[in-house]
Amino acid sequence: MFDDPRSAAWTPLLEAAWKARGNAHAPYSHFQVGAALLTATGEVVGGCNVENAAYPVTLCAERGALSAAVAAGLRPGGLVAAVVVTEAPRLTPPCGACRQALAEFAERLPILLANRETRELHRIEDLLPHSFTGSHFR
Ligand code: THU
Repeated sequence: MFDDPRSAAWTPLLEAAWKARGNAHAPYSHFQVGAALLTATGEVVGGCNVENAAYPVTLCAERGALSAAVAAGLRPGGLVAAVVVTEAPRLTPPCGACRQALAEFAERLPILLANRETRELHRIEDLLPHSFTGSHFR
């Protein structure tokens, strides 16, 4: 299902990500990003980047979606799939901070990167190998 980038299972996530992207607040970079997450309980949660005049305050779409998903009940291990969409010709991979944040909630998270023309499927363990986890200090 989520191991095939062309699977119809991605459709609700893509729709949610494009919809959220439409609400992105990106007046500084003009780079609008949408994300969507599917949780084990079947919720699809969208997010968009929210920039700020104080640039470092900016929140990426992925972590915006993650925050909304946790508020909706997501717990570690409960993240099933993620999508990131932009209109850039080069597909947009999650930044390092977002990879770390997503990794907390899934072991083998499939992450679909998409624009209007193309799609590419990655997995969190490939994007963030040897990641730091709670087990390193507990
Ligand atoms: N951005 C995201 O929201 N997600 C990514 O995966 C990459 C970058 C945002 C942050 C900032 O608002 C803009 O894109 C340019 O870096």
